[in-house]
Amino acid sequence: MMRTHTCGELRAEHAGQQVALCGWADTVRDHGGLIFIDLRDRYGITQVTFDPKDSQAAWDAAQAARGEYVLRVAGTVQLRPPEMVNSKLETGAIEIRGTAIEVLNRSQPPPFPLDDEKAAKVAEELRLTYRYLDLRRESMQRNLLLRHRITQAIRTYLDGEQFVEIETPILTKSTPEGARDYLVPSRVNPGCFYALPQSPQQYKQLCMVAGLDRYFQIARCFRDEDLRADRQPEFTQVDIEMSFLTPEDIYALIDGLLADVMEAAGHPRPTLPLPRMPYREAMDRYGSDKPDTRFAMLLTDMSDLFTGTQFKVFASVLGQGGVVKAINAKGLGAVSQGTIDGWTAAAREAGLGGLAFIRVQPDGSWKSPIVKFFSEAEQAGLRERLDMQPGDLVLFGADKRDVVNLALGRIRLLAGAEAKAIPADTFAFTWVTDFPLFERSAEGGLTSVNHPFTAPHPEDAPLIESDPLRARALAYDIILNGVELGGGSIRIHDSDLQARAFRALGLNEERIRAMFGHMIDAFRYGAPPHGGIALGLDRLVMLMVGAESIRDVLAFPKTQRATDLMMNAPDKVDARQLRDIWIQLDLPESTPSAG
Ligand code: AMO
Ligand code: AMP
Repeated sequence: MMRTHTCGELRAEHAGQQVALCGWADTVRDHGGLIFIDLRDRYGITQVTFDPKDSQAAWDAAQAARGEYVLRVAGTVQLRPPEMVNSKLETGAIEIRGTAIEVLNRSQPPPFPLDDEKAAKVAEELRLTYRYLDLRRESMQRNLLLRHRITQAIRTYLDGEQFVEIETPILTKSTPEGARDYLVPSRVNPGCFYALPQSPQQYKQLCMVAGLDRYFQIARCFRDEDLRADRQPEFTQVDIEMSFLTPEDIYALIDGLLADVMEAAGHPRPTLPLPRMPYREAMDRYGSDKPDTRFAMLLTDMSDLFTGTQFKVFASVLGQGGVVKAINAKGLGAVSQGTIDGWTAAAREAGLGGLAFIRVQPDGSWKSPIVKFFSEAEQAGLRERLDMQPGDLVLFGADKRDVVNLALGRIRLLAGAEAKAIPADTFAFTWVTDFPLFERSAEGGLTSVNHPFTAPHPEDAPLIESDPLRARALAYDIILNGVELGGGSIRIHDSDLQARAFRALGLNEERIRAMFGHMIDAFRYGAPPHGGIALGLDRLVMLMVGAESIRDVLAFPKTQRATDLMMNAPDKVDARQLRDIWIQLDLPESTPSAG
């Protein structure tokens, strides 16, 4: 037998037992003749002591051991003297008096300390290059284990709700989720390419046409897009589709699923049903389609108050049909001018001409470059509607409604962070419902807000041709703490309506046929009403464990440049491999290589 117990298992009641443990030497310390080795594995840490009086051979071997050596130790469990009990360790009541030690493998000194606190200061590139060492860290193991727990809870829950787990292909055809595709050349079909799925969207809808009724998949998705802290080029969705449903069925299903996930992650179950908010309200009050509802500082429309104002900036915006909105950044009245300048730059970047402000002084008076232009009535209106108190800071945005919402939405988050108004350990879920069906594309045409299979709100179907930007969709997102956890919609299941939606997107019949012929055909064979949702599993786990980055909850993540530093991928391939797949490279001189 290699081991009798794991390194996290022994307690006071094991005292006196002969045991054998295997693991890595976390630390090796020499205390005047006695050698202490902390032996570590996935389950915990156990202290082993070696006394030359017990076994000179074991003591010699212990002294030669170094950090990260792989050891098998045998000995007797003994209670620690009361003053040596370590209450921070689960095994802290005992230690092993080592009588034998076997070096199963030696280790070079690791290139960075594997202690969580010290490793946090190490460059992430180094940690990613030696990810197998980075993953030995306690916090990384905790994250991966919790990810496993959460995934298990999701499978159990969905199985209980009659969902069937179905795997769909990775080598497939382009799916329009709005990012660039990863392409895979075909050797046997020269000049043809598979696309890796941006999501299993079409397959899951076709599963509904196939009569499977309730589908789910822990699905890998691939998107070639610019990366951020909460984005990876390959990531995992909890992908769900069901037949014969209304949005209410999805809300109830996901509410229950998220409550189970919270519990699996050791958090209190949220009160159900989770709150809901129409898209319009999210944009108008939070300035975002992923509102962080953990704190207030809401956007307030002040346009009516300023209809006859002397302040030229506001008057001119209102004259052109724009809006004036304000937020009261409570308690930030004394924030530095440098901070306000930084926010003004952020507001400008979001398209605003500037960021007017009023500081409310401790004595209640106002300090601001613009109040001199405000009438008594305007000042009184502001004071009352924004509940302006000494120590407050009021910030204004004036422009077209969408520009003001976007800009003040960003400023709201900065101000909330500055004021430490965002409580820790809070989980604020909200559904955002009634998304628009279309938005303007960069080229000036229309593009789907969700994807082109999204059903219009039944009342708004006629708007697809007459006023497409006003059409609402039966689409919803689930938000947690200002992060989009997931999104989905009721789908179009009628081939004529689907063709109208494609046409509105500016696709001609030929392109529709080439890209989506299979969907239109399928819808002609008794497609049931259906819909679904996909949750970003990585983001969900990130929020459940309180990680800063999605990379901390993935075993082998990619960098911001979409590279795997450990495997050195992507990499060059030899000319023969390229010839096999009919590829000839034509790179400009200056092309940077990966890695
Ligand atoms: P959507 O594109 O909104 O919907 O994706 C669903 C969820 O997946 C997560 N996500 C990501 N996570 C990490 N890295 C990324 N690059 C990334 N992109 C998306 C987000 C997001 O909310 N097929 C539709 C779903 C449906 O309609 O049923 C879809 O993929 O948490
Ligand atoms: P100006 O008249 O451009 O000097 O602007 C006077 C004040 O109004 C400054 O504090 C600007 O930051 C602010 N301001 C200018 N344009 C806008 C705008 N579109 N929205 C909000 N504040 C603005």
